[in-house]
Amino acid sequence: MELTPTSTVRDMVTADFRAAAVFHGYGIDFCCGGRQTLEEACRERNLCASEVARAVAKACRVPDESPRRYADLDTAALIAHIVEVHHEYVRQAIPALVAHTHKLAKSHGARHPELLDVAIVFDSVARDMTLHMGKEEGVLFPYIASAVEAVQAGAAEPPSAPFGSIDNPIRMMEEEHETAGTAMALIRELTDNYTPPDDACTTYRICFRELEAFERDLHVHVHLENNILFPRARALEAWGRFA
Ligand SMILES: [Fe+2]
Ligand SMILES: [Fe+2]
Repeated sequence: MELTPTSTVRDMVTADFRAAAVFHGYGIDFCCGGRQTLEEACRERNLCASEVARAVAKACRVPDESPRRYADLDTAALIAHIVEVHHEYVRQAIPALVAHTHKLAKSHGARHPELLDVAIVFDSVARDMTLHMGKEEGVLFPYIASAVEAVQAGAAEPPSAPFGSIDNPIRMMEEEHETAGTAMALIRELTDNYTPPDDACTTYRICFRELEAFERDLHVHVHLENNILFPRARALEAWGRFA
């Protein structure tokens, strides 16, 4: 991957997904905040941009033979991957995380009052993400899939949509991603980067690991939508492919 000072964080992850793990380690947001250049993202976090760039280059040095080059997937396969891997994961992870965060708040909230806030904030993430994924699977993703099919079939008209321009639901989804990302960043802050205190029990430690994994997956999930799927959907409309 060729890096320049003007490379955006998003472009770097799109070019090679292994950059995501490096950014995650440095706390650099590559999904909602992905439009920043590497230098801007590092300046904001008091990080050395050349050190991060070296870490990215090192992580990406070995040729990637795994099927993680999501930008190469066709749109139907990308949607299937998002739903089957990420939506499925979120649905599986939420019940355990809600139970664990509430258990921690109840058992340890007196000594660690930040756990009460963690439980409240995660409740909102759980509720919002469940509704959000329902909208994507029920409305937006089927529309994008049908629009791609229509273009491939040479249709003169786009499939009819209940929401006007595709930009409308996409902007709503992007705002909801921002909300979920901000909430998880708050949990990261409240938990001191998911660091359990010395007196933490096993549930405490497991719960923090689960929360960190949830945030990590959210970053990938949102990256696939904001930076790969949605630009494709907007381009279909903007290029007047149906004109
Ligand atoms: Fe999604
Ligand atoms: Fe989404």
